[in-house]
Amino acid sequence: MNFKELCEQRYSVRSYKPEAIPQEKLDYIMECVRLAPSAVNKQPWHFTIYTNETDKQKIQQCYGREWIQEAPAYIVAYALTDEAWTRRYDEKNHADIDVTIAIEHLCLAAAEQGLGTCWVCNFRIQLFRELFELPENQNPIAIIPIGYPSQNVVPEKVRKEINEIWTIK
Ligand SMILES: Cc1cc2nc3c(=O)[nH]c(=O)nc-3n(C[C@H](O)[C@H](O)[C@H](O)COP(=O)(O)O)c2cc1C
Repeated sequence: MNFKELCEQRYSVRSYKPEAIPQEKLDYIMECVRLAPSAVNKQPWHFTIYTNETDKQKIQQCYGREWIQEAPAYIVAYALTDEAWTRRYDEKNHADIDVTIAIEHLCLAAAEQGLGTCWVCNFRIQLFRELFELPENQNPIAIIPIGYPSQNVVPEKVRKEINEIWTIK
């Protein structure tokens, strides 16, 4: 599978089999995450893989859609804001950008391994912070449910036309 085929294959999976993720697949995916680039190579991230019911239920409280309950695991991507590079000209902290790149490594690596994922950012962030008692510098960027897709779906890619998104000057 070439990279374009992988991009076509990845889609937001919202229906999962209960089967656990094999450890070697998880190791492979997290190695791909580890190799992601970051500003000044600061790697200001931490990923926690939640498989226990107590934590999974807390996450479900923060994102009330039923479909997420099917996934055997959730990976939460945390930005460690005080470890990130900050651009001195405007004080822009790059933690979110860095973590976002690493998350997409995760999603693409998972798709290559036959696993489904879905970015979830529309969760109750304040409740999440309280339930997991997060320190101020640890910012949950996305919840990524992960598992085997329960259906064989040909992803429908609704996208802007190619000539709408780039120009040569
Ligand atoms: C930053 C970001 C946040 C997202 N948040 C959610 C979310 O909270 N819930 C959800 O169901 N999908 C979420 N998505 C998935 C998008 O809806 C999806 O990527 C988009 O519709 C394109 O579809 P595809 O991923 O199947 O190609 C999010 C995607 C991104 C990149």
